Amino acid sequence: MQPKLIIHGGAGSSLKGKGGLAVVREALHGIVATVYGDLCQGKTALDAVVQGCQLLEDHPRFNAGTGSVLQSDGQIRMSAALMDGTAQRFSGVINVARVKNPIQLAQTLQGESDRVLSDYGAAELLRELQMPIYNPLTDLRLEEWLLERKGDFNKEMAGVIAEQELSEPGRGTIGVVALDQQGQIVAGTSTGGKGFERIGRVSDSAMPAGNYATRQAGVSCTGIGEDIIDECLAAKIVIRVGDGLTLGDAMVKSMAEARGNGRDLGAIALAADGTLAWGKTSEVLLAAYHDGENIGDTLEWTGPDLMGQTT
Ligand code: GLY
Repeated sequence: MQPKLIIHGGAGSSLKGKGGLAVVREALHGIVATVYGDLCQGKTALDAVVQGCQLLEDHPRFNAGTGSVLQSDGQIRMSAALMDGTAQRFSGVINVARVKNPIQLAQTLQGESDRVLSDYGAAELLRELQMPIYNPLTDLRLEEWLLERKGDFNKEMAGVIAEQELSEPGRGTIGVVALDQQGQIVAGTSTGGKGFERIGRVSDSAMPAGNYATRQAGVSCTGIGEDIIDECLAAKIVIRVGDGLTLGDAMVKSMAEARGNGRDLGAIALAADGTLAWGKTSEVLLAAYHDGENIGDTLEWTGPDLMGQTT
């Protein structure tokens, strides 16, 4: 089977400046090229999704792993999830701190009987695995938090899609959905949250609302977590495909509902027939893909459309 891959680095209200666009494009295309190359060498969708999420977590421009936004108390707490569509198995961590790649914890939990761990449990797992302590803080995120503290945290979320001077406030998350040579679909999502949130706030990224897959389809979401949870977006799109809709129709219908409800979000998706699809209600979706022949992206897709797709 011809492998397929789609990734995202968040959604937002605008991407200003060609410098910003070019840099984000280079980052996303580079990660797609690396991971897709490995899928073509026989890497499983599970390993490819973990690899893609790690590369995105390690890139300081995106709000996950290194470069995560700070919560209202000045701490970074990250969330990540993996869903293996063939095994129909979800795993994840919620509000984990001091780790380089939260997606690795989600991967470890795929093989456990307790598969979603929050703060204390995730910290305990880190200790058991003897993972090195890591500080994902970047200067940009610290400056952003200090600025907001002066303004008494008037913003509802951090600017998270690119360098601050190049972007409006955004809704950052990273995600990867892959189809491997065996026809297996896996979805992975990781985030630093929306920034400046209350301690204990739980992101959509480590819930089936934000990350879901079956044998038929997989979806990773980005945007405001509360909006994604209210729509139960990833699970809704995937289940619609299971009920017989094409991936494109499931995306259009789900995005139309989300738009009608005034949501601010985006999603990337992939179906077992190789269709790739993406949708958004926010102005910008930072997604890139490999359709088997070419690498493409959605960075300049700002039109009124609810959905784009390629097969
Ligand atoms: N979608 C990421 C978050 O709101 O936490």
